Amino acid sequence: MQVKDNTFLITGAASGLGAATAERLVAGGGRVVLCDLSDVVEAHAKTLGEHARAVRGDVTSGDDIQAAVDAAVELSDGRGLAGVVHCAGVVSVAKLVDREGNPADLDAYARTVQINLVGTFNVMRLAAAAMAKNVPGEDGERGVIVNTASIAAFDGQVGQCAYSASKAGVVGMSLPAARELSRHGVRVMAIAPGVFETPMMSEIPDEAAEALAAAVPFPKRLGKPDEFARLAEQIIINSMLNGETIRLDGGIRMQ
Ligand SMILES: NC(=O)c1ccc[n+]([C@@H]2O[C@H](COP(=O)([O-])OP(=O)(O)OC[C@H]3O[C@@H](n4cnc5c(N)ncnc54)[C@H](O)[C@@H]3O)[C@@H](O)[C@H]2O)c1
Repeated sequence: MQVKDNTFLITGAASGLGAATAERLVAGGGRVVLCDLSDVVEAHAKTLGEHARAVRGDVTSGDDIQAAVDAAVELSDGRGLAGVVHCAGVVSVAKLVDREGNPADLDAYARTVQINLVGTFNVMRLAAAAMAKNVPGEDGERGVIVNTASIAAFDGQVGQCAYSASKAGVVGMSLPAARELSRHGVRVMAIAPGVFETPMMSEIPDEAAEALAAAVPFPKRLGKPDEFARLAEQIIINSMLNGETIRLDGGIRMQ
């Protein structure tokens, strides 16, 4: 699947990994629909020029994501939606039992799972239904879906029950989704980032960020959003990548 002249939907595109991916795909000659809850997405799409559109939307809403998919099909000049890089997500921290002995809030747990896991399924189902209508290209390929998991899917920390479970669910869906969508010529992959320099991470104190950077075997730093974008681009281009989750983490294994 080539980037040039093809149209991609990027969720979570107002910030961090999604914003960097949109920039990279436009630089490669692609067209992009940037979808995000935040209105910043509109300004970001403007900076990317005529081949970018913004759609404000919530990844847990069927109507919102259908509108984003429709916008991508419209932008594609008849070629259809070629790919999705799904980056929208939230991080949350809560202990099962807090210091005072109170149980964790069940609604907060469900909210994280709803956005990160159910939102991923929502984006996949609507994107795949659109891609299945595409005219097949080389090898019968019609589309590619790149989801965003996390190393917390494998090495979850204390307080990450909700986040780790939601991301482990994203990892778990890759293979069954890839197997099912193979008959439509649609590939499904996930990226499990380590610790990246994005607004999501800027919420943690400097000291903690330095400790995380020092824990990375090599290179001893946080990942840069464009390093994520480059892997997403490679997954789009390389048709043999399918049904797998790739850790992108400098070798870090959380304690
Ligand atoms: N930054 C990291 O170190 C890191 C590590 C592992 C995984 N991730 C994952 O990467 C993805 C991107 O994270 P980031 O670091 O770029 O974070 P970020 O906070 O910079 O960007 C996330 C974007 O998602 C949007 N968003 C949140 N909920 C949404 C919803 N319901 N509908 C639509 N948009 C919504 C936000 O508005 C924001 O623009 C997330 O899924 C995150 O869990 C990040």
